[in-house]
Amino acid sequence: MEVSEEMRADYTDVFKDPGAVAKYSEETYATGTFSSRVSERQRQWLRGFVSEAFPEPPVQHDFACGTGRAIRMLAGMVAEAHGYDTSEAMLAKAAELRTPARLHLVGATGELPVDDRRPALVTVFRLLLNASPSVRDRAMDFAAGMLPDADAGLLVCENHGNAGSIRHLKAVFGRPDSKRWFAELSHADVMELFARHGFELVARQGFTMLTQGFYSRAPLSWLAPPLDDLASRRRWSAAAASDVLYVARRRR
Ligand SMILES: C[S@@+](CC[C@H](N)C(=O)[O-])C[C@H]1O[C@@H](n2cnc3c(N)ncnc32)[C@H](O)[C@@H]1O
Repeated sequence: MEVSEEMRADYTDVFKDPGAVAKYSEETYATGTFSSRVSERQRQWLRGFVSEAFPEPPVQHDFACGTGRAIRMLAGMVAEAHGYDTSEAMLAKAAELRTPARLHLVGATGELPVDDRRPALVTVFRLLLNASPSVRDRAMDFAAGMLPDADAGLLVCENHGNAGSIRHLKAVFGRPDSKRWFAELSHADVMELFARHGFELVARQGFTMLTQGFYSRAPLSWLAPPLDDLASRRRWSAAAASDVLYVARRRR
């Protein structure tokens, strides 16, 4: 079976396959790739944001932590980190990559873990876009449990397929067979998800205006990363960025 992150129906099962884990870790996030460059921009921004937003280091709870990418981004800046995932293979990779966290294998249904220590920082990276509505709701239920009120801390979610970005052209003009799985998530979709679970937006930041193709195809491939570096640092970039981080807290 061709393993693709974009297959939504059995999304949770896709990452139980060690082949998918190796591909994610060693190809998608290999040094110099589009994803690893976007991730590095996120790391720099997130470290600055967390140091300003939290008077003391928060306890990080990373839902669908996978290989531990969002935890390693904040290494040394949090009081303690916990990663939660349904895939044993992903968690094994997170441990192999020396992710500084306690890693928890969780079920796809049933009771969710809770922790009442505060301040807390809940991170949900690269999950919402391709997951089913029920998995999105489960991620938000997890966040709401860890952040029961506005003073408990903050939630940071990644949307790596903003429908308002240039990436949308691929959905419109892409190969007809690719439209079957091509997922998009709009700002409005994210706001609706937040509102339904009692969250309100605090901040939004974009991390790439371009898409993977620009980084890998000549003649633009040499120019795309530095251009994108510049553009995506602008405050206004979030509206049209293809990868966006949203910061939210529980409504008062
Ligand atoms: C694309 S990976 C993202 C991993 C990591 N958050 C990152 O940004 O690199 C998606 C992850 O979601 C996990 N996942 C899928 N369904 C889940 C669920 N219902 N509960 C918890 N984790 C889930 C998968 O096992 C996989 O590790």
